[in-house]
Amino acid sequence: MEDEPVEFSLRPRYLNDYIGQTRVKENLKVYIEAARIRKDPLDHVLLYGPPGLGKTTLSQIIANEMGVQLRTTSGPAIERPGDLAAILTNLESGDLLFIDEIHRLNRSVEEVLYPAMEDFALDIVIGKGPSARSVRLDLPPFTLVGATTRAGALSSPLRDRFGVVSRLDYYKKEELTLIVMRAADLLQVSIREDGAEEIACRSRGTPRVANRLLKRVRDFVQVQGDGIITSETAKDALNRIQVDKLGLDEVDHKLLKSIMKHFRGGPVGLETIAATIGEEAHTIEDVYEPYLMQTGFLQRTPRGRMVTPRCYEHFGVEMPQ
Ligand code: ADE
Repeated sequence: MEDEPVEFSLRPRYLNDYIGQTRVKENLKVYIEAARIRKDPLDHVLLYGPPGLGKTTLSQIIANEMGVQLRTTSGPAIERPGDLAAILTNLESGDLLFIDEIHRLNRSVEEVLYPAMEDFALDIVIGKGPSARSVRLDLPPFTLVGATTRAGALSSPLRDRFGVVSRLDYYKKEELTLIVMRAADLLQVSIREDGAEEIACRSRGTPRVANRLLKRVRDFVQVQGDGIITSETAKDALNRIQVDKLGLDEVDHKLLKSIMKHFRGGPVGLETIAATIGEEAHTIEDVYEPYLMQTGFLQRTPRGRMVTPRCYEHFGVEMPQ
């Protein structure tokens, strides 16, 4: 597979190569095996959790394990009911349809999805006014895999139609270390375990971040070092690209410092923070905040965002009285 882009070949292809998310993985193994024995399509699967934890990768793995074709689309790409109808009527029996950011489907599109998920059927209305009638078309049996960063943003009729609902969590340091070692091996870069561990610690629990940092560290060691990633060379490189010991980057720093400096630690509204630091509110909410809350630097309160005493401590700033 020499022609494949590197990014793709770093992704594990089968469950046995997939590191971490043990419970999700073990359960999926059972569901996949059972469906294969019965020669049924796998029940619809909803994967949710912060970005970069492997939702897309898992959908590819499920398709590989089931031996079926994967069709990929996303909530924002499906604008009208007709767009979804076109996708559904082009599916082949057993196909896996992956819809990323499924919480961003609009209501009229969602309504096409309900009978498709439940009965493998498409209801189309023909004609207008009093003579309008509904015709039901059969669809091939398929599996829908939906991914979202926010399970709470999904309407309950949609959520309830998934037979399997799995939450992906931030990875442990040991798991990320293995992921970095595996990726380094695929990229053919020399790495010591302490180097992989240093990268893992600064990857905010996220394989996508770990692989990105690995590539940047590789650049520095290849150009300015001896080509071997060790804890020292990794530390130097990561300090230079302003990723701190906890994996917080420039945007995290700007966000937290702005709340401390301009809003006396909060509470302050999301839109206000977004305008102050020049980032999109939904990027802050989906990408930055989940990890800052997980590490105990930031809290969401009914009156807005607040930084914690731990945050003041990390930056060595005195808390206001
Ligand atoms: N690369 C990215 N995510 C991974 C995972 N969970 N396991 C192995 N390699 C990965």
